[in-house]
Order: sequence, then structure tokens, then C-alpha cells
Amino acid sequence: MASSTRCNVAVIGAQWGDEGKGKVVDLLSARAEYIVRYQGGNNAGHTLVVDGKKTVLHLIPSGVLHPGKVCLIGNGVVFDPLVFFEELDALTGAGVLHKGSEHETVRVSERAHVILPYHRQLDSLRERRAAVDGAHIGTTVRGIGPAYEDKVSRRGITVADLIRPETLKPKLVRAIEEKNALLKHLFGDSVIDADRIFEECVRTGGRLKPFVCDTRRVLQEAVTHGRPVLFEGAQGALLDIDHGTYPFVTSSSTVAGGAIIGTGLGVGLGATTNVIGIVKAYTTRVGTGPFPTEIEKSEPAIAKRIRDVGAEYGATTGRPRRVGWLDLVALKYAVEVNGITSLALTKSDILDGFECVKLCKSYTLGGNTLYDVPACAEDYSRAEPMYDFMPGWPEYDRAAAACLSDLPVELRDFIRAIEDYAGVPVTIVSTGPGREQTIVVKEPFGQR
Ligand code: GDP
Ligand code: IMO
Ligand code: MG
Repeated sequence: MASSTRCNVAVIGAQWGDEGKGKVVDLLSARAEYIVRYQGGNNAGHTLVVDGKKTVLHLIPSGVLHPGKVCLIGNGVVFDPLVFFEELDALTGAGVLHKGSEHETVRVSERAHVILPYHRQLDSLRERRAAVDGAHIGTTVRGIGPAYEDKVSRRGITVADLIRPETLKPKLVRAIEEKNALLKHLFGDSVIDADRIFEECVRTGGRLKPFVCDTRRVLQEAVTHGRPVLFEGAQGALLDIDHGTYPFVTSSSTVAGGAIIGTGLGVGLGATTNVIGIVKAYTTRVGTGPFPTEIEKSEPAIAKRIRDVGAEYGATTGRPRRVGWLDLVALKYAVEVNGITSLALTKSDILDGFECVKLCKSYTLGGNTLYDVPACAEDYSRAEPMYDFMPGWPEYDRAAAACLSDLPVELRDFIRAIEDYAGVPVTIVSTGPGREQTIVVKEPFGQR
């Protein structure tokens, strides 16, 4: 029977992505045995800094730097095999993984859907076409949306298909037939040669085979025996396909519920899982879409300062991130849609030395005050943020900060204001990008 004392942990983005999930997952992986990605794909860019060395991961779970852990890519992920092998080879080259036994550390679900070249091609063409009248999403152009579309339309190629050449060909031909009609007649672009894609798939499938397994079974046994599992979310709550700022979202369930579907573990998992929402001390967003607390136009000098000091450039695409103040309305919404049990606050150090910081506590829209996130993107983009002003905190000796009482009183007040509004405690405070630059107020594994 599952042990009721041993908890699992889900790490979830509580904003629009890039909150510092990779750092927190790397830190918490020391206590986990299994680390699993369950949605999204290589649109994610998760940054880990250990002993001053930076590693950016897009697909392989952020527990990989800890020896002896099992890193799983679950059924809910859209899986680009080329990116997978690029990442794997880089980790092997760096001595993180050992040649010949990588497949003991990294396992891939046979049910995950595969991103193929035509998905990337369509993503790019759609974005370019939509940009003509400013309706583009600003995707990462990694083929994420088109791959999920194929999954839902039941025309997807799974990892299981990829490693079975004998049944793959007719599936590919059927999927490509429609793509070619679109590519040729709507976009006027080059069509896809199914034979060429098939040959590439057979080659890739051959190399992938040792990594492929029933990840659900692996995780089910782990959970049954009370082994600690860490669920690594990608993107953020406001980019969720159902609960985000639709249509300016990604194509997966980024909220914690996605962990259940994206791994095949039952709803009961929720009862044994602490859900940690990762939140920056301010907000960033890459791509287009509503962002009420954005200050690019209203306070450009502060936006530039935060972007420069915080190195706010996309870990996947290198795009400058849009910057704004912390939005507590959006955070509270994220707490609710995820069932967040505690928060990890990151990047408060970027605001060190600011005279004043702002917290958005409501919006006004058409003369009404809102305390929730509107469903309609057009409404949300017209919502005006209403702020509380708080005194900033001075620079302090961050290296010596081991517990909350070592933080400046103004920063502690800022943290308390977040807790009061969000209704959940801040149990981790990250004070820099490094693994060691973290105050863990309450250990997330083994507790409720
Ligand atoms: P993720 O997608 O949520 O994993 O976040 P990213 O890796 O895309 O972006 C977060 C960035 O902030 C990375 O460059 C991290 O190294 C960095 N980072 C994380 N936490 C902190 C922090 O507390 N302070 C500072 N200065 N940087 C941090
Ligand atoms: P991590 O895991 C920030 C954004 C894109 C775009 C929208 C749709 O590093 O936090 P997609 O390529 O998914 O179809 O793009 O979602 N986006 C992210 N923004 N962090 C991410 O991941 C993101 N993954 C996708 O910029 O607005
Ligand atoms: Mg990122």
C-alpha cells in the first residue's frame, strides 16, 4: 500500500512561464527518486545553475544533474526526437550521463506524441500568416500546437509508432496527405515527402528504442511503494489551454491537473502531492497576449532595468521577455486552478535596491473592479491594474541569508503581502540562480 506520510511534489509555473521552475526542480530533485515531465515539449527552457555552471534543458527533466535519479518523459509530452538526442548527447558529452547507460536514467513514454518536421513547418507558416494582421501568438515555433492538434484529431504519430516501422508507414501517409493540401494550397509552401520522413523516423526510432517504456507502470510502482516523485511542470498557469489567456496560450494543460493525465496516475495522486507554485517577484511574458501589469510603455526605464539585471531573455528562443509588476490577481487565480499548496518566490534579488515596488491587487474594466481573470482575451487586455505601493528593500548580504529572518524587513513584508493575498505560504525563497542560493522554509517532501 502507498505510504500516507511520503509526499510527492508538483512544481508548477504560477504566471506566464519562466518563473524559475528548472531551478526549483533541480533543487528538490535531491529528495526525489523520480522526476517526470508530463506536458508541453521543447517549448520549455529550464535553467539550472550548479557550481556556477549553467545548463538549459528543454525536454529532459531537470533532475538529471543528480546521479541515480530516474528521469521520465510522460505520455502527455509532445516529443521531438531530434531535440531529445541533441540534449542527451550534450549531457553525455558533459559527463552528466554515461555513454551506454543513458537509457537507465532517461525513459520515454511509448504513448507520447512525436513532433515531426511538418509540425514545425506549419507552426512557422501559421505564425507568419497571422502576423500580417497582428494575430500571431508568438509561439516558440517548435511545432507544439500542430503536434497536439494531430494528437487530438487522432492523426498523431506516437513514440510506439516510431519504433514499429511495419505499421508506421500508412499512419504517416495519412497524416501527411492533409498537411500537403494545406502546405500547397493555403501557404504555397513546399510539400512533404512521406518516404523521406518515413526513413528518418525509422532511423530515429531505432536509436530511441532502448529509452522507450511504459512510464505509467514505472510511476505507478513508485507511487504504490511510496517512492517520492517530482512532477516538473512546463510553461505556466496563464498559458494553460483551458485556463490561460486563450488563444494566447500553449496547447497543453499546464496546470497541476495535467500531471494526472500526462502520466496516467489517478486523481487520488492529488491527495499525496504538494503543489508548489513558482512565482517571480515581478512578472514576465514572452509572446503576445494580455498582460495587465506590463510596464514596457508606462515605466520603460524600470522595465529595462529588470530585464537587464534579471537577464530576462527567453531560454528557448532568446526573445526579450516583456516585463511588469507582480500581479496578485493572476497569482490567486493560479493558486486556485492548480490547487497550489505553497509558493516558491524567485528573483526577489532583481528588485534589491528598488525604492518602491508595486503589487497589483485588482483590475478595473469598464468602471467595474475585478478580482479575477476575465475569460475573454479582449477584455483582459483592456483591464487596468490597481496597485498597492510597497517600500523596496535594500541590498543585503544574500550569501549569508540562511533563513527568512536574515532578509530585510521590507522584503519580509512583501512576502507576507503575497501570502495574505494568495492564501498560501511562501515556503521557498530563491535569492539567486544558483542551486545553493535558496532558503527552504519548509521541506516539501514528506509533509502536507
Ligand atoms: P523556467 O522556465 O521556469 O525554468 O525558468 P527559466 O529558466 O526560463 O528562467 C528563469 C531564469 O531565472 C533562469 O535564468 C534562472 O537561472 C534564473 N533564476 C531562477 N531563480 C532565480 C533567482 O532567484 N534569482 C535570479 N537572479 N535568477 C534566478
Ligand atoms: P517554460 O517551461 C514562457 C509561450 C510562447 C507563446 C505561447 C505558445 O520555460 O516556462 P508554443 O510554442 O507553446 O505554442 O507557444 O506560449 N511559451 C512559453 N513562455 N515559458 C515557456 O516555457 C513557454 N512555452 C511556451 O512564448 O506565447
Ligand atoms: Mg523557461
